[in-house]
Amino acid sequence: MPRKIVVTSALPYANGPIHIGHLVEYLQTDIWVRFQKMCGNQCFYFCADDTHGTAIMISARNQGIKPEELIERMHKEHKTDFENFFIEFDNYYSTHSPENQNFSEQIFNALNKAGSIAKRNIEQTYCENCKMFLPDRYIRGSCPKCKAQDQYGDSCEVCGTTYQPTDLINPRCSTCDSKPVRKTSEHYFFKLSDFELLLRRLIENGYTQKSVANKLDEWFSTGLKDWDISRDGPYFGFKIPGEENKYFYVWLDAPIGYMASAKNYCDKNGLDFNKVWNSPEYELYHFIGKDIMYFHALFWPAMILGSGFKTANKLFIHGFLTVNGEKMSKSRGTFIRASTYHKHLNPEYLRYYYASKLAGGIEDIDLNFEDFINRTNSDLVGKFANLASRSGPMLTKQFNSQLGQLDQQARDLINQLIAAKNEIIQSYETLNFAAAVRTITALADLANRYVEQNQPWAMVKTDLEKTLTTLTATINAVRIITIYLKPILPKFAEKIEKFLNVGKLSFADVDKLLENHKINTFERLIDRVEKEKVDAMVEESKESQALQPAPVTLGEPIAQECTIEDFAKIDLRIAKVIKAEAVAGADKLLYLKLDLGGIEKNVFAGIAQAYKPQDLTGKIVICLANLKPRKMKFGLSEGMILAAGAGGKDIFMLTADVGVVPGQRIK
Ligand code: MSP
Ligand code: ZN
Repeated sequence: MPRKIVVTSALPYANGPIHIGHLVEYLQTDIWVRFQKMCGNQCFYFCADDTHGTAIMISARNQGIKPEELIERMHKEHKTDFENFFIEFDNYYSTHSPENQNFSEQIFNALNKAGSIAKRNIEQTYCENCKMFLPDRYIRGSCPKCKAQDQYGDSCEVCGTTYQPTDLINPRCSTCDSKPVRKTSEHYFFKLSDFELLLRRLIENGYTQKSVANKLDEWFSTGLKDWDISRDGPYFGFKIPGEENKYFYVWLDAPIGYMASAKNYCDKNGLDFNKVWNSPEYELYHFIGKDIMYFHALFWPAMILGSGFKTANKLFIHGFLTVNGEKMSKSRGTFIRASTYHKHLNPEYLRYYYASKLAGGIEDIDLNFEDFINRTNSDLVGKFANLASRSGPMLTKQFNSQLGQLDQQARDLINQLIAAKNEIIQSYETLNFAAAVRTITALADLANRYVEQNQPWAMVKTDLEKTLTTLTATINAVRIITIYLKPILPKFAEKIEKFLNVGKLSFADVDKLLENHKINTFERLIDRVEKEKVDAMVEESKESQALQPAPVTLGEPIAQECTIEDFAKIDLRIAKVIKAEAVAGADKLLYLKLDLGGIEKNVFAGIAQAYKPQDLTGKIVICLANLKPRKMKFGLSEGMILAAGAGGKDIFMLTADVGVVPGQRIK
């Protein structure tokens, strides 16, 4: 009996592009789903964009568009990225959908009725200018411990201390730079601890990998805390039933988006959602990264248990991607977008590389570029494509593309390949793709050795019949290896199917021999990876970052705005230096007497380390003429010279050409 399976991947945030870190997850899931389908099982793969929350609201606001517009654009981009990597969802939907709103309300109401929702007042940071509560990431200030400036409201990136936003020295709203206040508001909480026993039982019954179960034990022993599931407006999300200005927190409706995507698919395809999503007839699996474990191992199953839906059979949790042994980094160019990768390199290289690294655990996986190049060239090109290119062209040329029959030696080889089937299926099933790849490459080595032993290129001159047998065996090896690789390399497999003149290959075809069969002309299957292309991709990833303006919030906050009228008050004049002297007791200052076309002004300028007084006499400079005179220790300063630079020796005065008239105003 074929199995019936529903699979989800975590829903990517709609406020950023898909990158090669995300792809670890979507490729892992896609390979597993393709594998299930190739085993003849019914398998639905559902996903969606995660569209709600403050980040998306603010991001849209900064771009001057509505959040709806932003999420629609991202939806298209994400879909294209996934298609480019041959990630085949049965439905890719959105959490901003009527189905999701219905389910969110339904689940919330059920939890509320069961007494698992509490309401209480909490005090939070609020910006009176923006009229909104500020999440920690939208508050900046100096770290209370190390005093590093411009840190987020939850933790310091310099010394690592975590704190409350109110602990920051001089906290600011990162949107408008005004000083936030504390404000009380009523929030809804989900009483997670009501579900402790059920959750413990779920985990004991194998809901997650073993290594994760240990982590969860820690969480249980520190105690399950109530979860804040509401946010006050303005917020981009779903309103809480019966409330005017309160919304579901994005993480409440995000996993419900799995159901919304399934429901949307079922409705479009005449299927019964209750059966597909909620009956024991279907198995259900969620694929996620280890960073969102808490949500999927505790909150999500608790919500489901409390509202009459079934929990998943298992959570499959994977680790994080590192590149060349380090965290992905924008400055090193290793924060690579899916679209940038796709511009430079064949997506199947990455599918194969990730597969060769994924073993089903929660360990991080590393993309090492040197290893990536070597492995692709040695396996994809040197082992798999090579086998086909050693037999295809000769078959066409010498035998009119007509296969012959196998002899005993050929049968022995093919039987060995067939015998590996169950082991490979087992490896795929348990997400140990690395083991599957190891077995398959060993089989390809075997087949290549067979070709080398029989030397069809030499034998063709002496024994045509044996040559045809060798080539026929090789083609059968290509066919079997292609079936084994197909979940990982769907496009490569498609090319081989066309070349072999066979229909869509699946695991059931492994032991069906191809003899006395006409194949098609061989076409090139895959190119070698060139290091230059990898370098160009990294280079472009650096550039695409450099082109983006640094967020204002990361540098010095922009000062209070000034109007054009304020700016027009500035009176800049051409001035001639008539006297320049050092100032005793002030090694940074020079005293300058300036001629502004009949008016003389005394100015103390902080340029003594960059300019010598004797070089300045007679020079034309620019003076801020209407600066309010300031009394300094050394005398009255009646203006300012325009100069800029890092300070010390690196100060550069703006000097005008000779010929301009002192006193003239610059506009
Ligand atoms: N929107 C949430 C998930 C909601 S699910 C109801 C989210 N989105 S995400 O875009 O940040 O991440 C989507 C998935 O990609 C997560 O499972 C996450 O673990 C995974 N990855 C994101 N960056 C990753 C790496 N660098 N490496 C491996 N997986 C990564 O979380
Ligand atoms: Zn503000």
